[in-house]
Amino acid sequence: MEHNEYIPKPAKLISIKEEVGGARAIKTFRTQFIDEHSFSHQCGQCAMLSVFGKGEAMISISSSPLQKDYHQFSILKTGRVTSALHEMVEGDTIGIRGPYGNHFPIDEWKGKNLVFIGGGIGLAPIWSVLQTALGKKEDYGELTLFYGSRTSKDQVFREELKELKKKMTVHLSVDVEEPGWQEFVGFVPANIKDKAPNPENTITVTCGPPIMIKFAILALQEFGFKDEQLYTTVENKMKCGIGKCGRCNIGPHYVCKDGPVYSWAELKNLPQEY
Ligand SMILES: Cc1cc2nc3c(=O)[nH]c(=O)nc-3n(C[C@H](O)[C@H](O)[C@H](O)COP(=O)(O)OP(=O)(O)OC[C@H]3O[C@@H](n4cnc5c(N)ncnc54)[C@H](O)[C@@H]3O)c2cc1C
Ligand code: FES
Repeated sequence: MEHNEYIPKPAKLISIKEEVGGARAIKTFRTQFIDEHSFSHQCGQCAMLSVFGKGEAMISISSSPLQKDYHQFSILKTGRVTSALHEMVEGDTIGIRGPYGNHFPIDEWKGKNLVFIGGGIGLAPIWSVLQTALGKKEDYGELTLFYGSRTSKDQVFREELKELKKKMTVHLSVDVEEPGWQEFVGFVPANIKDKAPNPENTITVTCGPPIMIKFAILALQEFGFKDEQLYTTVENKMKCGIGKCGRCNIGPHYVCKDGPVYSWAELKNLPQEY
């Protein structure tokens, strides 16, 4: 049969974990392809997930490429497709096409310190590159994570974060004071200012709401970080995912193909359409 890039491949939901409940529910799904088809991805890439009869949504692959047994996606329930995904149960079948987009140039970062900065569901795209750096820890310098959520109940990967603290420096924050919280209270950029990361030989990866990214970058610049040391991802709305429909453009860039990963040196020269 003729190859058609738009046709998703069937994949089974092999596990579903509730990360966050309530109005801004987040679940983590692990998938395995049903037929012979599979793909290997790179850190920062995404895939188009489809629920039959509902539609498609572009989602970051949150598992590391070192993990060959499944692909993982952490998904915030926002609308039609993501709500349908949240209603599914283990063993159900979804469609997946991809992987799409560019990736974090993690091989070029060997020997450097890495600072990961995430807000809310923004930890999902970071998780892939963070786990890969941890899996090859001898290749990198010091690893640090800043992660902020509205409340402690809104954290994704809560159990994994506890384990992570044994392996690298983790600075958690919540937006407002809550009983029993012993770490930083305030927004992520304020936590960055409080901990004062050293820019020397360091790369940062920031993912989260656009407002958090903007002020996190400003905070890092105050400490002397240069544009080419600052990486982020752009989540413009997407339809085709393959550079055909023009839905995701920033100026001449197709974020689905040329992004979603950008250094600040690249992004600051593009129109502010993200
Ligand atoms: C490169 C990329 C990576 C992404 N990675 C993740 C991820 O790892 N986890 C995750 O939960 N979500 C991720 N998203 C966002 C996700 O694609 C949207 O939330 C999803 O498409 C919404 O689909 P829906 O049918 O459920 O909502 P719809 O019914 O289409 O819309 C519901 C609401 O969500 C808004 N919305 C739709 N698309 C986006 C978007 N791209 N960004 C912001 N708001 C949107 C709509 O404006 C509307 O208000 C990513 C998006 C992109 C482009
Ligand atoms: S989503 Fe269609 S061109 Fe990028």
